[in-house]
Amino acid sequence: MARIGVTGMGTMGAALALNMADNGFQVAIHNRSPERTHEVVAEAGGLSGNLTPCDTNEDFVAALDSPRAVVIMVPAGGPVDQVIAGLEPLLDPGDLIIDAGNADFNETRRRTKELEAKGFRFLGVGVSGGEEGARIGPSIMVGGSQSAYAPVKDIIEAISAKFKGDPCADWLGPDGAGHFVKTVHNGIEYADMQLIAEAYGILQSQGRTTDEMAALFGKWNQGALQSYLIEITAEVLAAIDPESGKPVVDIILDKAGQKGTGRWTVIEALKLGQSATTVEAAVAARSWSAGLEMRASAEAAFADVASVAMASEDDLEQALLAARIIGYSQGLSLLSAASDEFEWSLDLARVAEIWRAGCIIRSALLDDISASVRAGLPHDQLILAPAFVERLSNSVAALRRVVGVAIQAGQPVPAMAAALSYFDTLRRARGTANLIQAQRDFFGRHSFERLDRDGSGFHGPWAD
Ligand code: 6PG
Repeated sequence: MARIGVTGMGTMGAALALNMADNGFQVAIHNRSPERTHEVVAEAGGLSGNLTPCDTNEDFVAALDSPRAVVIMVPAGGPVDQVIAGLEPLLDPGDLIIDAGNADFNETRRRTKELEAKGFRFLGVGVSGGEEGARIGPSIMVGGSQSAYAPVKDIIEAISAKFKGDPCADWLGPDGAGHFVKTVHNGIEYADMQLIAEAYGILQSQGRTTDEMAALFGKWNQGALQSYLIEITAEVLAAIDPESGKPVVDIILDKAGQKGTGRWTVIEALKLGQSATTVEAAVAARSWSAGLEMRASAEAAFADVASVAMASEDDLEQALLAARIIGYSQGLSLLSAASDEFEWSLDLARVAEIWRAGCIIRSALLDDISASVRAGLPHDQLILAPAFVERLSNSVAALRRVVGVAIQAGQPVPAMAAALSYFDTLRRARGTANLIQAQRDFFGRHSFERLDRDGSGFHGPWAD
């Protein structure tokens, strides 16, 4: 009998099942089309002994030890509900269903309610690390009831990445907490990828070859920017397309896809009265990238705007570092607001800890981030943690220079500019919202608070 089952043998599902098998667990596997299930077993080599291929839902459920634990790894949305609907009649109360896809946390909250009302247990689990991570050790963000997690904790910890021996997996909070944290992880991932793409754009405008850029990203990966995304950027830039002999990046259409997690981060941030402007800039840039023909026309119409942006390598490195810190900071503030709103009591230091290895946004910064969060963030702001005040003080000037020359040259840097504007807005004790309040009161008698008196409900002389 199998300890756990995985249904959905796509790239991620198969990799997770093999990871479990590799860690010595007996795993029942299932896919809508059984051919794929058998393909996975055929390709599993020595691990096939730990896999039980099941062609039908009935076989799949029958292959599992009771109480059963079933991992669903199918595309988010309708497919998850369909798989649940197919399994439900075959499962018993007390059985555990785990959605390990990139679900919208609102749906996870709904499913938790529905399934728990029927006596099932349910976990919404974020898994990060791409295919390789899923196969050898992802970062795993668990949400749901703690009692539902207990029976699978050993499996989840065993298959997760380890940071100096500490499993990058943990229970983070009830219902949608795991999927929310994964969504924000992806939002930070979007921002970081966009920031890197903007640096690439600046280097390109300076006439650097892809080889030169690969070497530079490789060098940056040895310093403060050390991270998975900088590392793979160096590799990607160095890759040659075997068919054309050209750098692979030069033959890829500049039109970025997105499955929704970046957008959800922005939407949820806005709903919570928060700002995730670096993520918003990244989502927007992906959307704008779709208008290929429109962009070609706009380039023809406004061609004289573009010129080469001069920014030194050191400035670019420091600019990326500052903007990355601000991106993480926005993400953590959003998590803190969500935790308050949904009463999750999220341990943000633990979140940062389980991001230190296995996931896409793992970086040298995360160890310091978790230490700073553990020590307590002033006003829930990473940028105010002493270690980050120092880092930003040393790097923001470079971000300012890079954004300045890029804007002057007509080189788009939406995420860098968003990071800088956020930073500049936050570091002013007195901003300009007093004028907004005056305008609101003028046209709508919305009232304001005064600096020189207690209370609220004051109006300007125009109200008379
Ligand atoms: C991860 C990734 C992973 C996936 C996202 C990206 O943490 O392993 O974030 O979940 O790459 O689906 O989503 P987009 O297709 O929206 O870029």
